[in-house]
Amino acid sequence: MRVLVTGSSGLIGSEAVQFFDELGFDVTGVDNNMRADFFGPRGDTTWNRERLQAACPRFTHHDLDIRDRAAVDELFRTVRPELVVHMAGQPSHDLAATRPLDDFDVNAGGTLALLEACRQHTPDAVFVFMSTNKVYGDNPNRLPLIEHDTRFDYSPDASVVGLTSDGVTEKLSIDDCLHSVFGASKVAADVMVQEYGRNFGLRTGAFRASCLTGPHHSGVELHGFLSYLVAQAVTSGPYTMIGYGGKQVRDQIHSHDVVTALWAFAQDPHPGETYNLGGGRANAASNLECVELIAAHAGTRPVVDFEPTPRVGDHICYYTDMSKFRDHFPGWNMRYGLDEIVEEMVAAARVRAGS
Ligand SMILES: NC(=O)c1ccc[n+]([C@@H]2O[C@H](COP(=O)([O-])OP(=O)(O)OC[C@H]3O[C@@H](n4cnc5c(N)ncnc54)[C@H](O)[C@@H]3O)[C@@H](O)[C@H]2O)c1
Repeated sequence: MRVLVTGSSGLIGSEAVQFFDELGFDVTGVDNNMRADFFGPRGDTTWNRERLQAACPRFTHHDLDIRDRAAVDELFRTVRPELVVHMAGQPSHDLAATRPLDDFDVNAGGTLALLEACRQHTPDAVFVFMSTNKVYGDNPNRLPLIEHDTRFDYSPDASVVGLTSDGVTEKLSIDDCLHSVFGASKVAADVMVQEYGRNFGLRTGAFRASCLTGPHHSGVELHGFLSYLVAQAVTSGPYTMIGYGGKQVRDQIHSHDVVTALWAFAQDPHPGETYNLGGGRANAASNLECVELIAAHAGTRPVVDFEPTPRVGDHICYYTDMSKFRDHFPGWNMRYGLDEIVEEMVAAARVRAGS
């Protein structure tokens, strides 16, 4: 099979390259290292591209910008992918507010360029796209919450559309809320991916992810929460918890489990579908709890301070109900629990810090 992976030097793209290379597929990667442009030297993904080029014999890299429509069109015409794993993006909620044009051009425009090239040259390909839970805007903050000593959680008595005892479902509205600039560019891409499935019959799927994580993230303060927190803990560096006293809750899913989910979809595509994707209740923890979990593995902790004003639209509590995906793909199972994720990330951060 011929696989095209965009964002191939990033966290999920690189995991996909390795996974499909190991399956014996021809893998074409696209990444222009724009993460370094967005986030500076700590966001530089060159190390990850070089790691893949050394480890993956069937991998070819293209330093191509997905905003370049002519280059994207030419790539589809020549590579003729059978599976497109579209992971390139501007991923930061905060950065988007300072660079809205770049954010929209990459997230929305880049996705449209890829979809259209796919329609023109390889309409039978499966096309998977990583959307985000930020498409729900700040609607999760209107769900009934209770405050515990170290975290917020959903009220156990809650009976509202879009929430079950397992977390947030796809039934939560994406309307009537503050999305943030980032949420808006991802909504545009998410809806366009659905449209190319439902309207044009492409075999598309959009995955609305919560926190994706793993040892190959080039974590920075503005994106890659757990990766950055682990790096700061290992080096006893500073870490600012912004808003909610550090009690805000996110669920974490390992990049390996993300890619196996995408692969399950690719083998049995449901065109135009959206799926929530995340670690779920079992892999959910607050920022405060993550510091303690990391300290238990690393023996060190970051120097934490608190900024009382929350980030605009930041989720107070979010974890994922993946029932829809599990119903469609009963053979898929999540391999990594939070403890194992942190253990692996601490080891990787130590190597990268040279300690
Ligand atoms: N990591 C998370 O917690 C998370 C959560 C929800 C959604 N997502 C989405 O999942 C996708 C993958 O996330 P990730 O964590 O792997 O991000 P990442 O930043 O690690 O990887 C994205 C890669 O895309 C590349 N890229 C950016 N702009 C590009 C362009 N114009 N042309 C070519 N390449 C470009 C970057 O250089 C980077 O290597 C993104 O779309 C992100 O918005 C991520």
